[in-house]
Formats: sequence, C-alpha cells, structure tokens
Amino acid sequence: MALMNMDKPTKLEIRNMTKLYKNGDGVRRINLSVMLGELVTLLGPSGCGKTTILRTVAGFLSCDSGEILIDGQNISPLPPEKRPTAMVFQSYNLWPHMTVYENMAFGLKLRKTPKQEIADRISWMLDLVKMSGFEKKFPGQMSGGQQQRIAIARSLLLEPQVLLLDEPFSALDAKIRSQMREELRKIQTDLAITVVFVTHDQEEAMALSDRIVVMNKGSIEQMGTPEEIYENPATRYIASFIGEMNFVEQRDGTTIAVRPENVTLQLGDGTGGDIGGIVRTIMMLGHFYEIAVGTEKGIVKAFVSAETAAQFNPGDQVNCFFDGTYRYQPDSDLTENG
Ligand SMILES: Nc1ncnc2c1ncn2[C@@H]1O[C@H](COP(=O)(O)OP(=O)(O)OP(=O)(O)O)[C@@H](O)[C@H]1O
Ligand SMILES: [Mg+2]
Repeated sequence: MALMNMDKPTKLEIRNMTKLYKNGDGVRRINLSVMLGELVTLLGPSGCGKTTILRTVAGFLSCDSGEILIDGQNISPLPPEKRPTAMVFQSYNLWPHMTVYENMAFGLKLRKTPKQEIADRISWMLDLVKMSGFEKKFPGQMSGGQQQRIAIARSLLLEPQVLLLDEPFSALDAKIRSQMREELRKIQTDLAITVVFVTHDQEEAMALSDRIVVMNKGSIEQMGTPEEIYENPATRYIASFIGEMNFVEQRDGTTIAVRPENVTLQLGDGTGGDIGGIVRTIMMLGHFYEIAVGTEKGIVKAFVSAETAAQFNPGDQVNCFFDGTYRYQPDSDLTENG
C-alpha cells in the first residue's frame, strides 16, 4: 500500500497551466500538487502531453497561462538553469566524450564545489546506484541500464527540489526495467526526493507511484493512488487503460466492465450466469491462466488458477459469473459499481 502523507507540505504546484503549440496540440488547464517526498506519475498514451508538462516545469517550455510553483514560489519566470529542478530523458543523457566521473562532476564544478567534496559525493552516489568502479568508463562502454543509472545519479547529485524523469527506463528490457524501478523507488524514499515520473506503461505506473495522474488528449482525466484508480476507474477510457478489463455492451447502450480476476466460470449450458459462451483458448501467463470465452458480446477473459484451468477445455460450454462490475454510460462516465 502506498502511504499518503496528506500532512506533508506541497513541493510542486501546477496551477491552471495551459501550453499549446502552434498547431493547437499541447496541454490544457493542468492542476496538480505534488507533496514533499512524493512520487507522482504522469500516465497516458503517446501524444497526450506528458513530456510537455515536464518541460514546462523544467523551464524548457514557457506556459501560455497558469503558474508553476515550487515551495510556494512562482518559478515560471525563471530559465531552466535557475530552477531547482533536474530532468532525465528517455535516452542520450550522458555526454559521450566524458567519463562517468567527468559526467557526474560537471554540474558540481559549475557550482564551484570543492574538489574533495565532489570526489566524496560522487563515490557516495555511485555506491547508492550500485555503480562503484565505473568512474573511468565512457558511456559507450556501458549498457543502457547502466547509463540511465548514471544519468539519474548525476541528476541526484545536484540535489534538485523536484526530479523530473521522462520515461527513463523505456529503452530497457523488461527485467532490467523492473529492477531499476525498484532501485529508483528505494533511493527516492530513502532520500525523500520529490519526483514527477512519466511513463506510458500502466504496470510501471502502478508499481512505482504514490499517486498516478492519468492523462487523455492534453488533459488530466483522473488522479489518485494506484489502488483508487485500479478499483474505481472513473471513465471507460481509464478502465480500458489501467489493468485488464472486459467490456460487455448492454442493450440500453451502457457498458458493463469487469476485470478478468472477477470473472468465474462454470461448465454449463451456456445460458446461465451473467453471460454464456464457449471456451476458445486457455493460456498460461506465469502463475495464473487466462481463459478466453467467446460470447455473443465478444470475448470475455477470466484469470484463474492452474487448478481451475485444468477443469476446462477449448470447446466447453460455460457460464460466466461477474463479481464486481462497473457500468459506463455511452458518454463514458462511471454511473455505478456493482
Ligand atoms: N514542438 C512541438 N511542436 C508542435 N507540436 C508538438 C511539439 N511537441 C509536442 N507536440 C504535440 O503535442 C502533443 C503532446 O506531446 P508530448 O510530447 O507532450 O506527448 P507525450 O505524452 O510525451 O507523448 P510520448 O509518450 O509519445 O512521449 C502531441 O500531440 C505532440 O504531437
Ligand atoms: Mg513524451
């Protein structure tokens, strides 16, 4: 369970911020508060405006209207280098002609940090990100995951008030990615850093965040803890974007939504339960099975244990029972939970 610290002070506040590009794309009326030490994720499909928000906070883009405050101070007029933020991008973060040490020391040198202190802090930070011994390597001599670790370490050395991470792990393979996720989470909570993290991967957002901000076409559609959003997706869009969901259209135009883990199957005549159908496929997905049932309203998926899966075969007639449903109106707003 993510802990919500409602009593913590607000670190970052985005107030009614709009930033539109010449072609009309961008973000509209963004309101978001991030508390001290909180990790908030901006989640949404490609083009929904995640990077645009990060860039306005970092100062690489100026907003058309609204304000951005850190510790209650309006930072909107400040250029990027005067802002207490640091940003890590998806890739190409390190200077290729500099060693790890030089990459990390650069920002501290600009700040006229004494040489010995630079050395001490780099050594401490490399230890923290489990990269001790890599001081003399060049970026081209390291894996993508190692480079991103150094990029994050370098930004942490500058002790930003707000760390902005724009899909920092998206170029990495699944296993390293989840490892990095865990490490980032540990460092972030240990050091109580305030982070805005961008991803279009809902699983990553669920695993990492104190709160998730789900975006749709330049606007915020829902905000809440991973549990809140998973258990109560406010719109059909959110329901389809977060976790697996079955949608069953009703005659009255509304849609019933049910998660595969809330579907149970019984062998039967195919007319009982909430909907009947025929087992199409049974797939092993790690520690559970997915049974896909073909119904008159389309495929309904059920997640079941290996034991349960063994009771069914493709071609079986089954009745599906829904436990815990959502109902969405045609205009997509949630009307009730069942
Ligand atoms: N410099 C630009 N000029 C014009 N339009 C832009 C510019 N940068 C982004 N856009 C548009 O603004 C919208 C938001 O872009 P943004 O990069 O913020 O999306 P994103 O959510 O980060 O997407 P992705 O997941 O693909 O990185 C998109 O429709 C995009 O095409
Ligand atoms: Mg982006």
